[in-house]
Amino acid sequence: MTTWEQDALISPPIRPMGGPSEHPTVNQTATRRVRLGIMASGSGSNFEAIVQAIHSGQLNAEVAVLIYNNPTATVIERATRLGIPAICLDHRQFATRELLDQAIVGVLVSYQADWVVMAGWMRIVTPVLINAFPNRVLNIHPSLLPSFKGSRAIEQAFQSGVKITGCTVHHVVTEVDSGDIVMQAAVPVLDSDTLETLQARLQIQEHKIYPAAIAIAVGLGIL
Ligand code: GRF
Repeated sequence: MTTWEQDALISPPIRPMGGPSEHPTVNQTATRRVRLGIMASGSGSNFEAIVQAIHSGQLNAEVAVLIYNNPTATVIERATRLGIPAICLDHRQFATRELLDQAIVGVLVSYQADWVVMAGWMRIVTPVLINAFPNRVLNIHPSLLPSFKGSRAIEQAFQSGVKITGCTVHHVVTEVDSGDIVMQAAVPVLDSDTLETLQARLQIQEHKIYPAAIAIAVGLGIL
């Protein structure tokens, strides 16, 4: 049963992938599968949701590499279990954001990534990365952008008293959390919610929309 508590409003509506679409999809336009370079800093549940969507045939892509910046991030355990090559680029080893991004671009290029997918990457990225993959860098943010940009977005929304929040997949531009929106899911804030329960329901929606948004973005791209 679908209830307001369990489900969310997702925009644009998600069609069953592989079904008829007014937009070209990766299936229709690419001769090889799109290679994703995923960047994560923490738990990596979105990373795993993307890999599972590929395994289940929902998303016709492959994950070329995972880049993580925190040597103790639990995303590495997921990558090992899922058999995805994982490269640690510890931001503390780089003097500037640009130098870190240069190293990231080097890894992405060497793994032949076509698109960059930031999935809980907790560093601000620079034009060094953005310009190396023009219009091919995506991010997921735990609010209905343009509301509640920046860090602690769930907390910002929770404390503001809004009754509906959500999550957004968007293109990455130099201004933080400001690029074109690909897909959003709206999630109600319940009177009974704590920060933790709200976050848990938000993540369920993130895991649904990120693979779908990747398929949409990639299908409309130039591949
Ligand atoms: C997600 O909530 C995402 O919106 C934010 O960071 C979190 C990452 O979670 N950018 P996970 O590491 O994918 O579990």
